[in-house]
Amino acid sequence: MPTRRILVTSALPYANGPIHIGHLVEYLQTDIWVRFQKLRGHDCRYFCADDTHGTAIMISAKKAGVSEEEFIARVSLEHQRDFGDFGIEFDNYGSTNSPENRELCNQIWKSIRDAGLVKEQDVEQLYDTKANTFLADRFVRGTCPKCSSKDQPGDNCSVCGTTYTPADLIDPVSTLSGTTPEVRQAMHLFIELEKLHGFLDEWTQNSGALQPEIANYLRGHFLGEKDKPEPLRDWDISRPAPYFGFEIPDSPGNYWYVWFDAPIGYMASTKQWCDRVGEKLDDWWKSEDCEIHHFIGKDITYFHTLFWPGMLKTAGYSLPTKVHIHGFLTVDGEKMSKSKGTFVAARTYLDHLNPSYLRYFYASKLSSKVDDIDLSIDEFIAKVNTDLVNKVVNLASRSAKFVETTGLSKKYPDDGGLFEAGAKAGEEIAEAYDACDYSKAMRLIMALADRANPYVEENKPWELRKDASQAARMQDVCTVALNLFRQIVVYLAPVLPQLAEQTGELLGEPITRWDQSQTPLAGTPVGKFQHMMQRVEATKVHAMIEDSKIETEAAATPGAAPGTDAPGSSDKWNDSGDALAAEPLADECTFDDFLKVDLRVARVVEAEMVPEARKLLKLKLSLGGGVYKQVFAGIKAAYEPEKLIGRQIVCVANLAPRQMKFGLSEGMVVASGPGGEEVFVLSPDDGAKVGQRVH
Ligand code: MSP
Ligand code: ZN
Repeated sequence: MPTRRILVTSALPYANGPIHIGHLVEYLQTDIWVRFQKLRGHDCRYFCADDTHGTAIMISAKKAGVSEEEFIARVSLEHQRDFGDFGIEFDNYGSTNSPENRELCNQIWKSIRDAGLVKEQDVEQLYDTKANTFLADRFVRGTCPKCSSKDQPGDNCSVCGTTYTPADLIDPVSTLSGTTPEVRQAMHLFIELEKLHGFLDEWTQNSGALQPEIANYLRGHFLGEKDKPEPLRDWDISRPAPYFGFEIPDSPGNYWYVWFDAPIGYMASTKQWCDRVGEKLDDWWKSEDCEIHHFIGKDITYFHTLFWPGMLKTAGYSLPTKVHIHGFLTVDGEKMSKSKGTFVAARTYLDHLNPSYLRYFYASKLSSKVDDIDLSIDEFIAKVNTDLVNKVVNLASRSAKFVETTGLSKKYPDDGGLFEAGAKAGEEIAEAYDACDYSKAMRLIMALADRANPYVEENKPWELRKDASQAARMQDVCTVALNLFRQIVVYLAPVLPQLAEQTGELLGEPITRWDQSQTPLAGTPVGKFQHMMQRVEATKVHAMIEDSKIETEAAATPGAAPGTDAPGSSDKWNDSGDALAAEPLADECTFDDFLKVDLRVARVVEAEMVPEARKLLKLKLSLGGGVYKQVFAGIKAAYEPEKLIGRQIVCVANLAPRQMKFGLSEGMVVASGPGGEEVFVLSPDDGAKVGQRVH
């Protein structure tokens, strides 16, 4: 088997939030593939980095009160710790904010300029004069120009569905400062992708680099048919200052849009590794002998199958051998949800469960298709317990301890052809791994376990050991059981590196090569058997889900309930009675009772995530005249902090302060709804003044 040289990447995670179990679909899928190739003896390298540029990160850093550099350095450490604890091993983990990346961006940019693909064009964009920044669509809210619904986002109306640009909004407000932004013209640089149409058509449809469903999607949605091509839109790749990114050398005051420098980060990470180990970048990125494999999720298909190959082609680099695109994770058939506790951070998972469980579960679900994959909680528990604990680890736990003192038989005994059949299955299993069809690989491997277990059950080493005259036979039976176990573990090693390591220790030979599955061990010592894998306990899974749920207790009081008069003819709205039924009216109170609660109009002047609290936002409320209250509100799942800044809300201003884990909470924000994603903060109508009492 000739040695392949293979460069592998996963998408670079954004440096503005923690890794979650959705991301892990990708990083585990890739890590398994890389480990498999390495086990097969190929020269395979896995590169990744944090994606650190752009507006969102600028804002997060500002909120955290640190420089962007410090912010991304902290996140990078967290990301690497999470990946490491899941057994995801990179050959290099870099950052798009590195000198290597800047250098490569300059070089690739020059090629694109020289190829005549860049044009300048004025763009109208809203500008926040207080925050001194152009506003990306999601940082503007205002009244829909079509249906007049208030407080709509900058790109499309959530009520009537109309799409527009932020400049079309009536009474637009910057969510960064709460001020009215102004329309400003700015020059942007565009890459004329259409000039590469012929190349992209050929590469996407005929190179074999893409899954067939992806090639069809690109033709149907963007490229058009050969005889009826659709023009590709120009790509806006610059942003005027201030922007956290790289300044464009030949266009001072303008920065590359984050998606320009992000994929170049794949190369920059490779470069760091090359410099460290004495390799040359061109041997990996410009060599016919090197394969390049990108693993990404379906949401970033366009960038990796049109822009990126266009950039590589223009700058004279190798094109991707394959772009492996996976679907999205759902939990129990639904999108991950913060209020249901299914939006599980990698760290929260690790607090409760063994990473091997998730590695195996994802492997058993992944194929080479773009379909979404579902993590059904019950299936997760059942599969790990049935397959890993009952079928695989059990082979060792029922045999190893009986040969601790004697070791394995001198000669591998007759096992009725079991080991040989397992060895033969190796090629088909390897093909399935190589084709990213891990679910098939797992099925084939479990079929081997299904044949090995009856052997142990029929030969009952635990009975043989009671009879001294059967000692030799018992040793033979355990030798077979442990070799069948080891063969399975070699095949599972890309998925379960920890189990492979434990097995290597038990049997005195580390598992490092696929072909260790082809020859049984004999005459070697056996170490002391130690527990290899516990069963998954449902209580731990549920504790993890609970821990991921949004804290509703700190969320606000429900709003006033409506009167209970029978609806008259004036009520044409027919609102459902569900909410009222769910929370019936409280005991009657007097007017004096009511007056004890001092409700005030306040303005949110600061809002930030509390990184350690999954449910809370920390708000600084202004009551006017320099009077502020700090409030922790359980509304993180329902509101992005930047959307609250500048907004007038109603707060309980005389609530006794409460010391929480993260600081003092000096009030409460009034809102309705059951909690989680369904929290609706109350605001006064236009004209209210900050500090006014609400009665
Ligand atoms: N920064 C960009 C990628 C730049 S690559 C040059 C980005 N980052 S991300 O953090 O949002 O996502 C990283 C990868 O994780 C993407 O491939 C994305 O598809 C994948 N996933 C993020 N959430 C996911 C799920 N819920 N399910 C499966 N994959 C998911 O995109
Ligand atoms: Zn509308």
